[in-house]
Amino acid sequence: MCGIIGITSRPGKVPESPAFIVRKGLERLEYRGYDSVGVASIVDYSIIVRKGKGKIKDVNRRKHLDRVPGYTIIGHTRWATHGRPSDVNAHPHIDCNGVIAVVHNGIIQNYLELREKLTKLGHKFRSETDTEVIAHLIEHFISEGLKPYDAFKKAIRSLKGSFALGVLISSEKDKIFFARKDSPLIIGLGDGYNFIASDIPAFLEYTRKVIIVHDFEVGYITPDSVHLENVLTGEVIDINKRIHVIDWTPDMAAKGGYPHFMLKEIHEQPRALKDTIHGLGVEVENAIKLIMNANRIFITAAGTSFHAGLVGDYLFNILAGYTSIPFIASEYSKYKNSVGEGDVLIAISQSGETIDTLMALRLFKKLGAKVIAISNVVGSAIPRESDVTVYTRAGPEIGVAATKTFTSQVMVLSWIAVKLAYYTGRIDETTYKSLLGDLHRVPELANKTLTLVEGETKLIGEEISDRHSVYYLGRGIGVPIALEGALKLKEIAYIHAEAYPAGESKHGPIALVEDGFPVIFIIVEDEMKKHILGNIEEMKARGAYTIGVVSDEDKEARKLLDRAITVPYIEPVFSPIIYIIPLQLLAYYTAVKKGYDPDKPRNLAKTVTVE
Ligand code: M6R
Repeated sequence: MCGIIGITSRPGKVPESPAFIVRKGLERLEYRGYDSVGVASIVDYSIIVRKGKGKIKDVNRRKHLDRVPGYTIIGHTRWATHGRPSDVNAHPHIDCNGVIAVVHNGIIQNYLELREKLTKLGHKFRSETDTEVIAHLIEHFISEGLKPYDAFKKAIRSLKGSFALGVLISSEKDKIFFARKDSPLIIGLGDGYNFIASDIPAFLEYTRKVIIVHDFEVGYITPDSVHLENVLTGEVIDINKRIHVIDWTPDMAAKGGYPHFMLKEIHEQPRALKDTIHGLGVEVENAIKLIMNANRIFITAAGTSFHAGLVGDYLFNILAGYTSIPFIASEYSKYKNSVGEGDVLIAISQSGETIDTLMALRLFKKLGAKVIAISNVVGSAIPRESDVTVYTRAGPEIGVAATKTFTSQVMVLSWIAVKLAYYTGRIDETTYKSLLGDLHRVPELANKTLTLVEGETKLIGEEISDRHSVYYLGRGIGVPIALEGALKLKEIAYIHAEAYPAGESKHGPIALVEDGFPVIFIIVEDEMKKHILGNIEEMKARGAYTIGVVSDEDKEARKLLDRAITVPYIEPVFSPIIYIIPLQLLAYYTAVKKGYDPDKPRNLAKTVTVE
């Protein structure tokens, strides 16, 4: 996830210089990423670029971004996905002749293929990014005789993946070209000036009149006009029908209108999942090669990432017939005498900096094992020290409670497990294609789930907010979901919450159950469901207040439960991504009801860097 902004204005129409406004806008977008930053401006029909690695404040001090001349300027704050943070990988990216500058948020899935073709045609690439191909592609189409805007549109039609783009072409001195697919882009309308940006706070101080750009829409802004059209059909859009006047405060705007980052990030999951799928490429194949050649597979992580690891462990067994050994990262020393060459460790960490996971990784490497990292932060310590890294593309997570990074990690692990199952001959091609199809549909199902469960989870959250203890029970793939649901509740609502395999509840935990004790069941549509139904009966018989997350195909559990939270049916092995969403929301609404700030729970830090 990155932040983009662009302004084009007539002289004297904005109260500060356009470069100053772009720098301020970038600071408001810094929540989207801040590992490098840059701007490009058109002056006298040529393009000036200033950019560098580091936070906006530091790069601005070194490179004076906010003193760049010109009235048509684009800017970018980066959260690296392809190519580590560096001066060269910072946006804007330019073509061979430096007459086209591009800022981009999203992932170009087919960039390797395009880069190869353009390299053969003589184009010289400077960076490791997926974005740079766009500048060269436009350059290529202009060299074939197309007019700049037609070349831009043709380039857009050649891209696969997700993008919000701002583009300058030096011959078009007061135009900013833009396009959107799957990444947010908003136009801000002023008097004698116009903006594009990834999010409204970037220009809120200067205008409240906005147009939300839709997928497959492209166009350009000038200081006095907006041209918008559908790039596939060529239909020109009447912008007057699309203008909204918003009434957000700056704080509301930074959180996209949500009261907390956690709620915003829960709602970002469909987008995060889609970007994660788009970003999966050759690294997955490299990871699978290591797994297939391994003597033993270990999985390690902490907290929420460990729960994702438990989902991975389940899927490796069930789908691919591989036994793995999951362990909590801080317990790494147990393996100091037993691990060796031929073993493979999968280390999962959203931040890539968690010390326990890093220490486990270092021990395994020292003993000769290979390491596969799954991380959300490009260039962080764990990826740097691993043999192969598969990145999730959830974007920066600000709330301390991990939400969108968990579901993105589970997506990566599910993808690996399905491929592993196919490559080792456990499933045939038809099943393989059908399972990958199921995974492709998950972002849409996550969207549907958010709509379906929000009201019910708020009600239940308010109901349980005065309880002191809650149990979460599941079986099979439901166990890691229960563990993650319980962690969310204790971490932000400060309610004692325990998760167990439901079968284990009779071996002790049930002794605590009395009238009104909340027990939350994870009811997945698999062969273990009949046993869960029995567990619900047992808990009811002892007076428990039974709540369940159930599929919309369920006919039995709903009758038994005091409260049912219905989610759309999903292939049972992929249920964690969908079933965890109501549990995240439940924890969120319980915390809010109790008056706590879910973004900053007490005693916790987003990244734990001390052992
Ligand atoms: O950055 P990591 O994924 O390595 O972090 C691991 C845990 O500290 C983290 O998942 C923690 O449990 C979450 N804040 C829980 O919501």
